[in-house]
Amino acid sequence: MLLSRIISLVLAVVPALAAPTATTALNTTQTIFQYSDNGTWLENIAVRQNGSILTTRLDVPELWEIDPTWTRNASLIHTFPGVSTGNFSIQTLSTPGTYALWQVDLTSTEPNVSIIAQVPKADFLNGLALFDQDNLLATDSAKGVIWRINIPSGNYSIALSDPATLLSATDSPKPVGVNGLKVHCKYVYYSSTTCMVLARVPFNKHSAPSGPVEIIAGGFTPDDFVLAGNGTAYVATNAQNSLLKVEPSGRVTTVAGNLFTTALAGATSVALSRDGKTLYVSTAGGQFDPVLGDIIEPA
Ligand SMILES: *[C@@H]1O[C@H](CO)[C@@H](O)[C@H](O)[C@H]1NC(C)=O
Ligand SMILES: *[C@@H]1O[C@H](CO)[C@@H](O)[C@H](O)[C@H]1NC(C)=O
Ligand SMILES: *[C@@H]1O[C@H](CO)[C@@H](O)[C@H](O)[C@H]1NC(C)=O
Ligand SMILES: *[C@@H]1O[C@H](CO)[C@@H](O)[C@H](O)[C@H]1NC(C)=O
Ligand SMILES: *[C@@H]1O[C@H](CO)[C@@H](O)[C@H](O)[C@H]1NC(C)=O
Ligand SMILES: *[C@@H]1O[C@H](CO)[C@@H](O)[C@H](O)[C@H]1NC(C)=O
Ligand SMILES: *[C@@H]1O[C@H](CO)[C@@H](O)[C@H](O)[C@H]1NC(C)=O
Ligand SMILES: *[C@@H]1O[C@H](CO)[C@@H](O)[C@H](O)[C@H]1NC(C)=O
Repeated sequence: MLLSRIISLVLAVVPALAAPTATTALNTTQTIFQYSDNGTWLENIAVRQNGSILTTRLDVPELWEIDPTWTRNASLIHTFPGVSTGNFSIQTLSTPGTYALWQVDLTSTEPNVSIIAQVPKADFLNGLALFDQDNLLATDSAKGVIWRINIPSGNYSIALSDPATLLSATDSPKPVGVNGLKVHCKYVYYSSTTCMVLARVPFNKHSAPSGPVEIIAGGFTPDDFVLAGNGTAYVATNAQNSLLKVEPSGRVTTVAGNLFTTALAGATSVALSRDGKTLYVSTAGGQFDPVLGDIIEPA
């Protein structure tokens, strides 16, 4: 696929960004849970107050919970109906006009699932973050915009449009531009996959941009990421099968995984444990860009 050729080219040009640096520190990776079938795809990940992991599937419209402690057990929390969360196929990608945002209240024994908003103008909703108590921001990887969704009314509008960093690269066969999104200290941070950047833009209290876009780092294929309290980003690279650390200065180091191993095959998203000592990474098992050309594994 063309995308992998572009990625290989970039890797050849800037090997320092992607190659693991020689070091004595060993960042061990452990599999907490793995499905038994190839074709499974974990897309996003969050950590509950009590430490359990919530994770969404992309191959089926499902929300799962995984206890990372001794049981290492996974259970299905909810299957979303039909195509309402967004009709997405790994082969044909997204169906515009099929998206909606849901909330799943887990405070009672039975999950309470309700719809926040239908977002028919969206082409491919992907990253999601709370901006303030009443407003969500969501990335649209195909349209190349960031949407603002008002939770009480369900109204939505475009919060940021910056074709240079949000739209997918013109020569990319897969329309995957802006991807992950986080809100931190009056800034909206986002990753943009085929533009190969991690960027940020200041936002005012009306959830609107109040200054220019700043590129923090680039030269890798970011999927989703997490931000530590000090502004350090940990970025899943999906096609590069790795987890990168991007310091606020723009310095990039590889934390774990690499192009040639299945340790983090198709890393899609990252979350920090509640004690801040462990990074959890979800994977797609290398389906987007198989390891060494043909190796995939279950998510
Ligand atoms: C967190 O709470 C959920 C719901 O009560 C429970 O299923 C899960 O096992 C808990 N996780 C941990 C790590 O205690
Ligand atoms: C895992 O969770 C499932 C569903 O909640 C339950 O049926 C099963 O007994 C659990 N297995 C273990 C080893 O805890
Ligand atoms: C969802 O996508 C599949 C595969 O591309 C397609 O067959 C189906 O018609 C789509 N459904 C809707 C409602 O868009
Ligand atoms: C479920 O959530 C909806 C939306 O927040 C709320 O209106 C409803 O009362 C909740 N139902 C229960 C049983 O808690
Ligand atoms: C939502 O949109 C409707 C229709 O455009 C408008 O009347 C209403 O004031 C909006 N509500 C908010 C909270 O923006
Ligand atoms: C930022 O926070 C991360 C995660 O807690 C930590 O590993 C890293 O060393 C911190 N960086 C600095 C410069 O303090
Ligand atoms: C562990 O992660 C740090 C960045 O946090 C990196 O400098 C180091 O090279 C990594 N070690 C390995 C073995 O990947
Ligand atoms: C997944 O696919 C790989 C080939 O990429 C194959 O070697 C492996 O046996 C498959 N695993 C399962 C569980 O089917």
